Amino acid sequence: MLCTILGAPGAGKGTQALFLKDKLGVPIIATGNLLRDAMKAETELGKSIKDAMNSGHLVPDDLIVDLVSKRLAEEDCKNGAILDGFPRTLAQAEAIDKIFPVDIAISIEVSDEEIISRLTGREICTKCQATYHVEYNPTSVPGICDRCGAMITRRNDDDREIVKERLVIYHSETEPVKKHYEDLGKLKIVVGQKEVADTQRLMAEAVGVKYDNN
Ligand code: AP5
Repeated sequence: MLCTILGAPGAGKGTQALFLKDKLGVPIIATGNLLRDAMKAETELGKSIKDAMNSGHLVPDDLIVDLVSKRLAEEDCKNGAILDGFPRTLAQAEAIDKIFPVDIAISIEVSDEEIISRLTGREICTKCQATYHVEYNPTSVPGICDRCGAMITRRNDDDREIVKERLVIYHSETEPVKKHYEDLGKLKIVVGQKEVADTQRLMAEAVGVKYDNN
């Protein structure tokens, strides 16, 4: 199954992608993580996208479609994948659907006010990418990931003003992608809940798997 998780920055796409990965047994392709890895490794790609990423702007469509389609052609994606953060523009959606048609698009809906509160308190594992929140979902030991024991960190683009810019871009560029999948009969809406486990239950329902919270 090729499943894409849509939603504003901070809606919980990464958190829910990790949950679905275990349920569906397919890999996650998180474009934000692929791009951040390229920046860290200082590849040509990394250098060319640095300014866009750090200011919360989107990187060019052709570049990201090329990156995702190459990744989807790899052996471990033969039974599908979970796309986190892609497609993010109508042009990306139309391009990928010609090569690898998405089976289901789940949009996680959360208010802008809640997004700002979530992202300005978010912490992320430097190794396994598990996400936490200083208040709603803290690590058991401060600074250490519960899943893998690595150090946790914060993202540069989780600064309050940059988060507001990311939301403006989401509403103008990414919301039309929902209509694209609605017209194809592939859109499912999941209202983001206060508790992560409650959203997981709705995600399980959306993809038709049993929810057992393990
Ligand atoms: P990317 O890394 O994809 O960031 P994003 O979409 O802005 O989303 P986030 O990763 O910030 O949030 P999330 O929805 O995964 O939420 P999370 O689960 O962490 O992209 C970064 C940049 O890369 C873009 O700005 C752009 O420059 C570039 N880029 C990426 N893809 C691109 C594309 N396709 N085209 C062009 N450019 C692209 O949760 C957030 C917080 O909330 C966490 O602290 C978590 O613990 C907490 N939380 C989660 N669920 C709940 C809940 N139910 N209740 C309470 N707290 C919760």
